[in-house]
Amino acid sequence: MTDQTAPLIDPFQRAIDYLRVSVTDRCDFRCVYCMSENMTFLPKKELLTLEELDRMCSNFVRLGVKKLRITGGEPLVRRDILTFFQNMSRHLVSGDLRELTLTTNGSQLEKFAQPLYDVGVRRINVSMDTLDEAKFAEITRWGRLPQVMRGIDAAQNAGLRIKINAVALKGFNEDELFPMVEWCAERDMDLTFIEVMPMGDIGNENRLDQYWKLSDLRARLAEQYTLIDLAERTGGPARYVRLEETGQKIGFITPLTHNFCESCNRVRLTCTGELYMCLGQEDMADLRAPLRDFPEDDRALENAIRAAIALKPKGHDFDYSRQRVDGQVSRHMSHTGG
Ligand code: GTP
Ligand code: 5AD
Ligand code: SF4
Repeated sequence: MTDQTAPLIDPFQRAIDYLRVSVTDRCDFRCVYCMSENMTFLPKKELLTLEELDRMCSNFVRLGVKKLRITGGEPLVRRDILTFFQNMSRHLVSGDLRELTLTTNGSQLEKFAQPLYDVGVRRINVSMDTLDEAKFAEITRWGRLPQVMRGIDAAQNAGLRIKINAVALKGFNEDELFPMVEWCAERDMDLTFIEVMPMGDIGNENRLDQYWKLSDLRARLAEQYTLIDLAERTGGPARYVRLEETGQKIGFITPLTHNFCESCNRVRLTCTGELYMCLGQEDMADLRAPLRDFPEDDRALENAIRAAIALKPKGHDFDYSRQRVDGQVSRHMSHTGG
């Protein structure tokens, strides 16, 4: 056996205990800030099989990962993905894993909410940028709001706690700030806003035109509510406030206006077995080769994981402050899973 006691610590003394796993680069939506309309997806043979994903994730859990977030693309469009969740639940049962969760666009939740709850998922993040049906169709290109609403109903009925993730988009959902806050309060859901990041080619869209600073959003929120800063962290990059009047929790993910990289605790595995040490940098390590080359022995894989963690950069370089897009990365969010 290899050394199970040494945790994963990066060069900046950050302990890595959160793995985000993109199980597919495919998605049934085409959000305008995320994908171009004509995306080329990976051939199926490039993907890790579900067994390989299991072995990969189980090794990370053995090396100290406590939180596993399954993403995509849209994770629930991967065939037989429930089998994978079912298999991962053994790490919840053993106590090695604290949380098994996913980030989803909600389109498949009607079918999957209950089975996900049954295998131990308790909290999910659903991406939703608008409550207006026509705008929803416009921003997701292929998505339909009623289908996602049915998914959210099913998730709440199954007992799943929901956090809504909304990308803050200038001229698009600015006028929906208060309706979204109220809607989440009524349904007892948390809400997090995200600044749009320069990732991947998005065709004719322009990032600077999309960008709505969360410092501005926050100031607007404070015109109607009393904001109480919370010290609490979920292990993700969001900083939370509580609205005194409603008691609800609102999160802000601010890669542009406030860099949170100093407390980064996560790395990202793509569906082809590349490990990205940072969402906003191009460096990655191939873990598929050591996995496939040594089907019976995890030592090469563990060495490759440790070598990759030793190369984790200090942070991303996203920057719009000079009125131009700096620090852009070439791959789409759906490649690394957000
Ligand atoms: P919880 O705190 O567990 O609710 O989750 P989270 O905020 O870590 O996960 P979620 O999937 O909701 O992440 C929301 C979004 O935050 C992601 O899709 C990314 O857009 C952004 N994000 C997450 N981690 C990072 C990171 O390390 N760097 C940057 N720049 N953005 C991140
Ligand atoms: N900037 C910020 N957030 C993005 N997402 C996708 N692309 C971007 C981007 N360029 C969000 C989605 C989803 C999460 C996985 O990432 O809306 O909530
Ligand atoms: Fe799909 Fe999510 Fe990208 Fe939208 S943001 S196209 S839902 S992966």
